[in-house]
Formats: sequence, C-alpha cells, structure tokens
Amino acid sequence: MSLILAIDQGTTSSRAIAFEVTPRAARSAVGEPTGRGGDLHPLSVSQIELAQHFPRSGWVEHDAAEIWTATLQTCREVVRQAGGIGRFAAIGITNQRETSVIWDAATGEPLHRAIVWQDRRTADVTARLAAAGHEATVQRATGLILDPYFSATKFAWLLDAVPGARERAARGEVLLGTIDAWLIWKLTGGRVHATDATNAARTSLMDLKTLEWREDLCALFDVPIQALPRIVGCAEVIGESEPSLFGRALPVAGSAGDQQAALVGHGALNPGDAKITYGTGAFLVANVGAEPVASTRRLLGTLGFATRTGTQGRTAYALEGSIFSAGSAIQWLRDGARMISESRQSEAMAQGLPDNGGVYLVPGFTGLGAPWWEPEARGTVVGLTRDSGPAHFVRAALEALAYQTRDLLDALADDGAPPLTTLKVDGGVTANSFAMQFVADICQVAVERPAFQEMTALGAARLAAFGVGLIDDLEHRPAEAPAVWTPRMDARERERLLSGWRRAVKAAIIAAP
Ligand code: G3P
Repeated sequence: MSLILAIDQGTTSSRAIAFEVTPRAARSAVGEPTGRGGDLHPLSVSQIELAQHFPRSGWVEHDAAEIWTATLQTCREVVRQAGGIGRFAAIGITNQRETSVIWDAATGEPLHRAIVWQDRRTADVTARLAAAGHEATVQRATGLILDPYFSATKFAWLLDAVPGARERAARGEVLLGTIDAWLIWKLTGGRVHATDATNAARTSLMDLKTLEWREDLCALFDVPIQALPRIVGCAEVIGESEPSLFGRALPVAGSAGDQQAALVGHGALNPGDAKITYGTGAFLVANVGAEPVASTRRLLGTLGFATRTGTQGRTAYALEGSIFSAGSAIQWLRDGARMISESRQSEAMAQGLPDNGGVYLVPGFTGLGAPWWEPEARGTVVGLTRDSGPAHFVRAALEALAYQTRDLLDALADDGAPPLTTLKVDGGVTANSFAMQFVADICQVAVERPAFQEMTALGAARLAAFGVGLIDDLEHRPAEAPAVWTPRMDARERERLLSGWRRAVKAAIIAAP
C-alpha cells in the first residue's frame, strides 16, 4: 500500500492523480537510511471539466453536486488505472479556495449553487463593513482585507437566499463549508464536517494565530458558528472514506487549499521561499515563517500550512498576492473574444509582434485583486490605434501576467520580505515561453518551472503521505532539472513598459462603475 489518491478540485476542472511513494535513497554519513523520506511519482490521472455558470454580471457559480460526481468519477478512474484500491494508503485533497457551499445535513444535497471565489455579488456588504470601520479588526485577526473574494459574506448570502436556511443552520440541519469541507463530507458519507486550516484561513472567520473560529467575526458577518466545520491540520487523519465508494475505506489524511498545496508541492517550506501558480487566477504565496506577518501593502496574511492544529506539528505562515484573472484572460481571448482558437496560439502571436504597440490589457474581468482590491473594476484595454489587431490583445494579455506579478513582488518587498532570487512557477500558462521570459524581464528575477508541473496535486499527496506516516518529511527533491528563464531586458525598456501599465491600471480603476 504505497499509493496516494490526490484529489485536485479546481475552478475549471476536477482531477484525480495517483502518486506512488518510493523511499528516498538518502543515507546518513555512516550509510544508514535517514528516515522515511520519499519521492512521489504520478501513476495515473483523470480529469473532468466543470461547467461555469454566470447568472448575472459579476456572479460566478458552480454546481456542488456536479463537483462531487466528477470528483468521484475521476477518483474511481485513477484507482482502476493504478491497479485497484488495495494499493492505496490514503486520500489527499486540494481545492479551489473560498468557493462556498451550503447543503442539507440530512440529505447531503446542496441547497443552492456554490458561489465561486471570483463572484462579486457581496461587494456592497464588504464595502459597508469597510465604511463602518471594520477592516482593521478583520485584518488584524485574519490577515485578510474586506473583499467579496472571501467566504464569510458568501456564506451569509447563501443563508439568506435559501428559505428557512438560517433557522435550520442554527439547529445544525444546514451546513456551510468551502469545497474541501464539501468533499470531506461526501467522501466520509456525511460522518465528518471538517475543513483544513488553510481553507478556513480564507473565510474571514478564523483567527490566523490560534487557527480557531472567532465568535466576534461570525457575529460581524452573520454566519452561525454551528454551521461551520471543525478546523483540522493539513496532514492528519481527518476521517475514513465511506467503504462503498471505492470498495474499501481509506483515511483522508491530507488537505490544503490549492495555492497552499502548491507551496508544499514546490518544496517552498522555508521563510524566503515563494511560488506563483498561473491558473484561472494567479496566486503568489511567499513563506514568511512560523509567525504571521501583517501586510502594509494590502497583501493577504495567510497560512502556508499547518501539519496539525494545536501546538504539535509544523506551521508556516505566508503573505499572498491574489490576481483574479491570469489564464482566464487567455480563455476569454479564445472563448469570449474569439481572437484565438487554441490557447497555445498565443505564444507565436505575441512573439510575432516587435513590441506591444502601446496596447495594455488590465484583466479586471472579476474586479482587481492584490494590491489594488477594486471589486468593481472591469477588464480594460488602453492604447488601441488603427494598427492594433488580435495579436496586440493577445500580447497585452500575456504581458499583463508579468506586470501583475511585478506589482505583487513590489508589495512583498515593501512588506519587508527577503528579495527573491528565484520565482518558482507552475500552472497552464507556464507552458508559454514568451510569457515566462517576460515575467523574468519585468520582475528582474530568475523564473523556474519544475519539470513535473502538478505542484498542487503533488502537495496534497505529500501532505497525505505525511499524514499517514508513509514519509516523515515534506521536503521535495525533484529528480529532473527545472526550465529557467533569466532577466535580459534593459532597465530603461522595463521602466517604460511599467509606466504604461500603471497608467492602464489607473484607467481601469477610474472607469469602474
Ligand atoms: O483562491 C482561489 C484559488 O484557490 C483558485 O485557484 O487554480 O482553481 O484558479 P484555481
């Protein structure tokens, strides 16, 4: 039994990957094995795309029942491909964070579509709370600023939208949770209502120091504490899966939000280590060590990982910069604007231009995240001339990845984080060499992409392997060399481009309704 079933429930798809844990060949100076360190290798993968629902401008929903069905189907497929459930030791979960689910404790059925992290419907609530002076309290307690991105206002909205839900939640008949909690509930046949501390850190309801729910914040956001899951560590046995699902019970032994799991997957375990994942959005997570750091530049104070809650275990805090639209801007060029038919065309199109022609795209499709936090901003293109064509849009969307990353790195430096020598990257867009070189040039940092790309699933698998004691450290030592891009743009050109970007961001903010 040396396989881990990793579930990666993302914004656009649900995936399962089976990882084989092999003991590491590490030896001490006298040739003794140094412990149960191990390397994880993927054996089989299954993926199902997820329907996106946009019922109104700025609203984004998922069907939680569909998420569960797809998760189960992908898990069963990888178990089959990997030779049967008998070979598996544990399940690890990682997930899109903040997305909020409401369900009936008796039937296990969702009571409403899940509200996705990108959804802005509660912008008026967070604006009201900010105007009433609550932001400093929330930030001090949770590390988060007031924004509809986080789960608390989404939970409250769901409770108000479903008739009778508030009264039933107070009686424990209606439950709330992020996607990890929803999957844990379904996997354990409704026996366990738990969420890991990294996901709980994204609700605005958890105290970042104690890793416990705060009654004062539950009252502020009007979320009954009884409906919330128990907070657990990222690498501990949370419960056993329902035997009928896979033919045998498996311990659910690892769980972390996808960006935090990617931090572990990259082996960014020590202060000064940082990674950015370019998925639907892009999320820079920088490990700041064993104590939380309060940002002065509107980055988020958050948890990197806590192997266990309480005093045992290893805890790392992080500063995070969340960009809401990264890969989704390329998707928009393909599916919305129809300027490309496949995402991979974007590299050649961008490279085919001598420069950006003065065109900038600020991808505020679902508002702007860090460090701007402008929920009402929208996508904005500036600098169009009669020469501009689809290639300029494509190039501007790819360049925006780099400009947004630079804004985050500047904020991180202002917050006193040690300067990065290397930025570890993963995610779909990192296949685009033009974009990665541009990130290196604009951010003046070496960009390193590991040969194995599934950092999120790898992190979840590693946490689960650690949770059941298959390995005894979280270190990751990849066998294959990474791809590296180093800066080569001259300073004057970089400054010229950055000042164009800053003007474009101002325009996007001014144009917000
Ligand atoms: O905070 C949202 C994030 O966790 C979603 O990540 O990879 O699904 O875009 P992703």
